[in-house]
Parts: sequence; structure tokens; C-alpha cells
Amino acid sequence: MAKKYITTAIPYMNGNPHIGHAMDYCLADVCSRYYKMLGDEVRLQAGTDEHGNKIFLKAKDSGVDAQVFVDEKTDSFKAFIKKLGVEYTDFVRTTDELHMKRCQEIWKRLEDHIYLAKYNGWYCTGCERYVTDKEYEENNGVCPDHQKPYEKLEEENYYLRISDFRDEIREAIESDKMLILPDYRKKEMLKLLEESPDVSISRPISQLTWGVPVPGDDSQVMYVWIDALSNYITVLGYPEEDISDWWPARAQFVGKDILRFHAIIWPAMLLGLGLPLPKAMISHGMILANGQKMSKSIGNVVEPMEVVEKYGLDAFRYYFLRHVDTFADSDFTWEKYDSAYNNELANDLGNLVQRLATLASKNRLAYQKPESFVLPEEYTSLMNDFEYSKAFDFVWEKVQDLNKKIDDEKPWMLAKNGETEKLEECLSRLIDGLLLANYMLTPFLPETVQKIKNVFDGLIEPPKIPLFPK
Ligand code: MSP
Repeated sequence: MAKKYITTAIPYMNGNPHIGHAMDYCLADVCSRYYKMLGDEVRLQAGTDEHGNKIFLKAKDSGVDAQVFVDEKTDSFKAFIKKLGVEYTDFVRTTDELHMKRCQEIWKRLEDHIYLAKYNGWYCTGCERYVTDKEYEENNGVCPDHQKPYEKLEEENYYLRISDFRDEIREAIESDKMLILPDYRKKEMLKLLEESPDVSISRPISQLTWGVPVPGDDSQVMYVWIDALSNYITVLGYPEEDISDWWPARAQFVGKDILRFHAIIWPAMLLGLGLPLPKAMISHGMILANGQKMSKSIGNVVEPMEVVEKYGLDAFRYYFLRHVDTFADSDFTWEKYDSAYNNELANDLGNLVQRLATLASKNRLAYQKPESFVLPEEYTSLMNDFEYSKAFDFVWEKVQDLNKKIDDEKPWMLAKNGETEKLEECLSRLIDGLLLANYMLTPFLPETVQKIKNVFDGLIEPPKIPLFPK
């Protein structure tokens, strides 16, 4: 049994969960359930990113202590992850005392690659990062993600010498030893790596207090990304514990907006610590609302709980794992959501189960379930390549095919004509097909898969309530 470790990005605790956060969780959960289905032992990490000025200021605005503020937000994220049916095994908070202690130890171990210098340049408070002069010019002085003008800043910081690791990182990305998906993002990262200066990894205490203190220098606090990226290994017990059973991660899921931190700073940290690089980094696209970025100021933010509650967990997972492309930006609209539920889940899958179960029970079919299923190569190859929305499409074609076969072969006519043997062969073959499709749905639709299994186990009875009631 192989051991596999899968990670998700840890969201900032400056707001409530929104629909975009669901992407990391849903994709990582599919990955984890797929490996478990193949017999692997899996650890799936989740957590919360709780330091930094943005969070500190939000707490201040709300009139509560920062720790109280993040405690509350963390609870809402935990409830959200649970609601998505995500089976995480480890949860890390960056304000956990143990995480902070481990983070300081990580810093000490990186000291050979850290130096103190003055910074004089541009900064985006939204991204909490420095901006190069080139970027400043390209964006006309305004952050495209936050629509806020960049600020001028002069301060003393510690820097991580990216140049110490550039060659090794480039080699790992180029050779796919650290696979970056999709391929066009890999190319983007290779270009960024060449342009990337050394990165500032601390802030003076006058600028930032809500963070992990730099060991040996109480005038500086760690920059949020150092603290946040460390979570992937501190949660495994690094550095006191031997993490080699789990690290390197098999797959790290992140949004395209934060891939640059994971493809440059994170590998530099790992190499500085003498740890191997993750095997794969999967960068997903953004969820848009009517083609636009979701934002509170535009007023088009979709509340995830509302979406889950409308038709239930599997309808949510169905939409976000099939109709939201794994890698590209995709749109969410209520019209598309309603149509996916009614026309696909209810009409394709729900009807298929109802039709086959009714035919089998009416004709008292003595159905013998296959001992095991052989997964089609096309499916496993897509799943192994993290092409989840395509793998889901592949399964759906099988579901639609089975409905077509029922229409073409008309088993009710075989029953009417008393062609018992032919009828049994036809129904058994179609139910085998359905159960194979159902098996392939295991990583995607956990509740539905169980319900379908129950229908065809033992005496077949059509579900009293349709699987997807309209
Ligand atoms: N705290 C950092 C991550 C640190 S990981 C060491 C962060 N937090 S975040 O809350 O802004 O984003 C968390 C995750 O949600 C990221 O993977 C991000 O890409 C994803 N998404 C946030 N909004 C999104 C959409 N609208 N659509 C899809 N994913 C998006 O970045």
C-alpha cells in the first residue's frame, strides 16, 4: 500500500468561505478518494492562514481581538469543508503554537541562505508582496487583482537568496520532477523564475505585528508566505519528526493566483532545508460569476452554503468537478447550475437508475454482481494526469450511452415477448455497465455512489424517492 500526501492552499482568515475556496478542497478530495479507491493510504491536509496585516486590520475594524477574530473564521471554514464532504486527515492553523515554533526552526535552518538588506520600491497591500518596477509599469501602478494603487515603501528586511536555488528549481520544473500543471502555467513559472529577484521574507515590527517573530531579531516578523508555506510540512511534524513516509507530497492543489509562491519560494525553502520537492503542483483556474471575477464591491459573490443547500452535496460536487474545468477559469451561474441538476443529474443518472431498477424488479431479475470491476484505461489515465473534469466527462458519456442502449434494445419488449434469456442478458449487461460507471464516480459523488450501490445490492428495489428529485 503506497502512502500519498495531498495538500490544499490554506485560505486567509480575513473573510468567510466563498465559492472559489471550494475548488482546492473539491479537487484535492477527488484526488484523495481516487488514490484510496486504488488501495493507497492517503493523508489530506487542510488549514487556515491567519497572520498578516489584512487579517489584523479586519479584526480591528470589527472591534475584536485578532485571535478571537481568526478563531471564529476558522470555525466557519471547518464547517464549510465538512459540508463539501471533504475527508481531510490533518488540519493546521498558522496561529497554532506548535506551527509557529516549527516555523522558527525552519527559519534557523535556512539561515545560510538569508541576508538582511534595505528595500526601496513598490508594494501591494492586497497581495502582501513587493512589486518590481517592471510590474509597476506594466500595470500602470495599480494592482490588477485588488484594483488598488501600489504603495511606495522603504524598509529593512531579511531576504531569501533565490539565486542559490534557481538552477535546481529550473531543472526540476523543466524535467517534470516537480510537475506543474497545466503545461502553459509551467512555462509561465519558468519565465517568472528567471526574472525573480531574491524574496523578502520579513517585515519590520513597525509594519507588521501579527505574525511569527523572526528568531534572534525581535525587530522583525516573518512575512506571511514563509509562515503559510511551512504549513505543508509543520503539520506532518517537521522538523522534530521524520516526515519521509509522507513527504514529498504527491500533489499540491493551488489556485493560479498563488502558483508563483508555490513554484518559486516554496521549492527554494525546501531545497534550503534539504527536503525533496513535491511531485506535482496542480494549479486550477478561477470561478467567475457571469464572466466576471467575484467581488463584494461588484456584488456578485455566490454564497457556497446556499449552493450546497439548493440540491445537496453531490449536485454541488457534480457542477464544480465537471462543469468547472480543472485548469481553466469557469463561470458559475444559477441557470447553468439548475440545468446541470435537472438535465444531467436527474435526467441522465437519476433516470438510468430508476429505469434499470424498475425493469429488474418487475421482471424479478436474478442479478449477480461482478466480483470486481476493471477500470477503463482511458479513465485511469485521465485521473492519473489530474484531468478530473475530462475523466468526469468520460464517465458521463458512459451513463448517456447506457440510457441510449435501453432505448435501442427495448428490454420491456423482450419481457412482453417472453424472451427471458435475452432479457436477463440485456438487463444484467446494462446493470453491470451502470455499476462500473458508479464505481468510476466514487471520487466524485460519494453520497450518490452509496445510494446506487444500495439499490443494486441483494433484492433490487427502485428507489422510493428519486435520486435527484425535481
Ligand atoms: N493564504 C493564501 C494561500 C496560502 S497557501 C500556503 C491564499 N488564500 S486565499 O484565501 O486568497 O485563497 C485560497 C485558495 O482559494 C487559493 O488556492 C485561491 O486560488 C483559491 N481561490 C480564491 N478565490 C478563487 C476563485 N474565485 N476561484 C477559484 N479559486 C479561488 O491565497
